[in-house]
Amino acid sequence: MMILVGGEKGGSGKSCLAQNIAVYLRTEKNASVLMVDCDPQRTTSDWIQERNANNKLTPINCVQLFGKIRNDLLSLRQHYDYVVIDCGGQDNLALRSSMAVADHILIPLRPKRRDLKTVPHMEDILSTCKMVNPKMNAAFVVTQCPSLPSLASRILEAKEVCRSFEVPVLNSVTFSRNMYDDSEESGMSVIESEPEGKAATEIRCIIEELLARGKEETAYEPVQSQKIHAIS
Ligand SMILES: Nc1ncnc2c1ncn2[C@@H]1O[C@H](COP(=O)(O)OP(=O)(O)O)[C@@H](O)[C@H]1O
Ligand SMILES: [Mg+2]
Repeated sequence: MMILVGGEKGGSGKSCLAQNIAVYLRTEKNASVLMVDCDPQRTTSDWIQERNANNKLTPINCVQLFGKIRNDLLSLRQHYDYVVIDCGGQDNLALRSSMAVADHILIPLRPKRRDLKTVPHMEDILSTCKMVNPKMNAAFVVTQCPSLPSLASRILEAKEVCRSFEVPVLNSVTFSRNMYDDSEESGMSVIESEPEGKAATEIRCIIEELLARGKEETAYEPVQSQKIHAIS
């Protein structure tokens, strides 16, 4: 299984999600996991380095790949239960090559105007890649949601924007919690920092919902004519 966490907006939580998903699969599903870091900023490679230096944590393998990485990914996939790809923050060759072969694609977006403005372009890329990878299971996930009840409508509006472009959006979200930032510090994940905490529960819900979607028939199907251009 290849799980890609991608998108073109920096700071939306791609590295954070990819890392926490990798730890979930490694430690709670006892799966063999490889992380692939395609971001020249090396966020995930640095995190892995810290993690693997800490002998209290289960080590996870990581490689850096750039450019046309399709064939590399296909051969790596044979050796692991899961390959989790952190694809940086640009529409580049690595993102498109990974989308061409990934089983699951997760695109995090904050419920903010600038993140939501990337939805049409992401949908364009997804529909292009779907021609070569028709079985891809792609979904948006809303991240760093405000927890104030008065701002709850922003979360619903963000989901509505995604839906208006006929791209599935997960019901599960992450709320804005210091736990995400704090646990990254020492190569840990929210699952290890506070296994019964709310952030750990959010990660489990997101990955389980994504993988369950992949088993349904309702995989991503772009319907150009039904787009409502909800972003003004
Ligand atoms: N749900 C969240 N709540 C609070 N902070 C978060 C959350 N998700 C990610 N972050 C923080 O936001 C920052 C950017 O996240 P990161 O995963 O590096 O983004 P990206 O890889 O998309 O650029 C990091 O400091 C991370 O800890
Ligand atoms: Mg990143």
